[in-house]
Amino acid sequence: MNQQLITTDSSENIVPICLVSDVEPGEVIQAELSDGHQLAVYNLEGVIYVTDDKCTHGDASLSEDGMVEGDEVECTWHFGRFDIRTGKACAMPCTVPLKTWVVRVKGDQVYVEDDR
Ligand code: FES
Repeated sequence: MNQQLITTDSSENIVPICLVSDVEPGEVIQAELSDGHQLAVYNLEGVIYVTDDKCTHGDASLSEDGMVEGDEVECTWHFGRFDIRTGKACAMPCTVPLKTWVVRVKGDQVYVEDDR
């Protein structure tokens, strides 16, 4: 059960990105904002998390080249790791954290707060 409830959907910077049902537990999918910015959407035991999709070490897509292991995603290009919940770089060669996005869920719809 998702604990992230949307309190308002009238704010212009809260944007829909995908459905909860699109992301199986333990999986990651790619979503895209209207300007083409790519996001990685994770389901960790029913809780949705969103980070930037692009690895901070190189051009790998974490939704395509990443492996979710527990609360971390491993980039299979060079085996760097990030904490999905915080974006913290957990294993070399990754040192720069991933941007994480504030997630809101209403029903089956997943939104992010676009704070850029
Ligand atoms: Fe991701 Fe190098 S591109 S670890």
